[in-house]
Amino acid sequence: MIKTSTPGKLYLAGEYAVVENGNPAIIAAVNRFVTVTIDENTDRCSITSKQYENHLVHWERINSRMVVDDRDNPFQYIIAAIQVTEDYVQALGKPTQKYHLSVNSDLDSGTGKKYGLGSSAAVTVATIKALCQLYHLNISKVQLFKLAAIAHFSVQGNGSLGDVASSVFGGLITYCSFDRQWLSEFLHKITLPELLKLEWPRLEITPLQIPPVLRFLVGWTGSPASTSQLIDKVELKKGKHGIHYERFLHDSNKCVREITNGFRQNNIRLIMQNIKKNRELLQSLSQMAGVPIETPQLTRLIEIAEQFGGVAKTSGAGGGDCGIVLIKSDCDIAGLKAAWRDAGIEPLDLSIYNY
Ligand code: PMV
Repeated sequence: MIKTSTPGKLYLAGEYAVVENGNPAIIAAVNRFVTVTIDENTDRCSITSKQYENHLVHWERINSRMVVDDRDNPFQYIIAAIQVTEDYVQALGKPTQKYHLSVNSDLDSGTGKKYGLGSSAAVTVATIKALCQLYHLNISKVQLFKLAAIAHFSVQGNGSLGDVASSVFGGLITYCSFDRQWLSEFLHKITLPELLKLEWPRLEITPLQIPPVLRFLVGWTGSPASTSQLIDKVELKKGKHGIHYERFLHDSNKCVREITNGFRQNNIRLIMQNIKKNRELLQSLSQMAGVPIETPQLTRLIEIAEQFGGVAKTSGAGGGDCGIVLIKSDCDIAGLKAAWRDAGIEPLDLSIYNY
């Protein structure tokens, strides 16, 4: 039996801008996990997930492609992760095996709603990590990221893949998105082992630390949002607002740089100023693209956090899901959480997860 867990994530800054190649975001892995278990004691390949009431699919490899017995199954990311990893195994000349793979996740609330903590990236990474153990693949974290990025990209083609990097590396990172056009072009021109050895243009992943005087808090609005749809809407509108969009990218990158410097230099004022600035930039992007990034409930979450001395903003694509707060540890954190609860916002008991 093999068991692996990978963390979910939240964006601290740089969201949307990071979708453009080479732009940075700051992302925190959090201590809630997707767990994948592999049981080799079987003669048929299958997948189940607790989140889908133990929905069961069987599959087999026919001419190197996975053929699943239920085409409308909810396991697209798991299947993509298995496909890519087993393509890699075969490219190394090793045989593939039969196993039952089961998934459990605490990135969803008890009522089955997603918190928006990056469950699709976490399940992709957890599946590949488990398979690497099964097939005794000794790969580096960067190579694990590359395999997971290829798998995730094959299902959702419009994201930055920062959530995949966060699940692989854990902790707090700055992530610069690599050139996904380049990946699409190279993917079928060279073998997977060669692709994993190449430097990927513009990819940068750097670890960071939050200064110890700051606490990182998370509130959940209870309304799920579709990141992919929000990205598509921004994508559609950005051409019409060329100069403003370029300015948004420029200013977002500056914010990420300043927050990164603030973390490195323990400069709390610089961090706080730029979290606020990043919130404003996302509000202006929201107006420009006509996309509801900061919903009224997220505004409420942010305003309450500010009343207690914190700085706060939407996290990730917004439109619901979670808001994040940075606040000094000596502020009235219990009071802030109580005020959130009164406003129908659930404080999530999360901290940054380091491997
Ligand atoms: O909504 P989330 O937490 O999945 O974050 C999305 C962040 C974006 O920058 C909007 C998209 C991306 O893929 O980076």
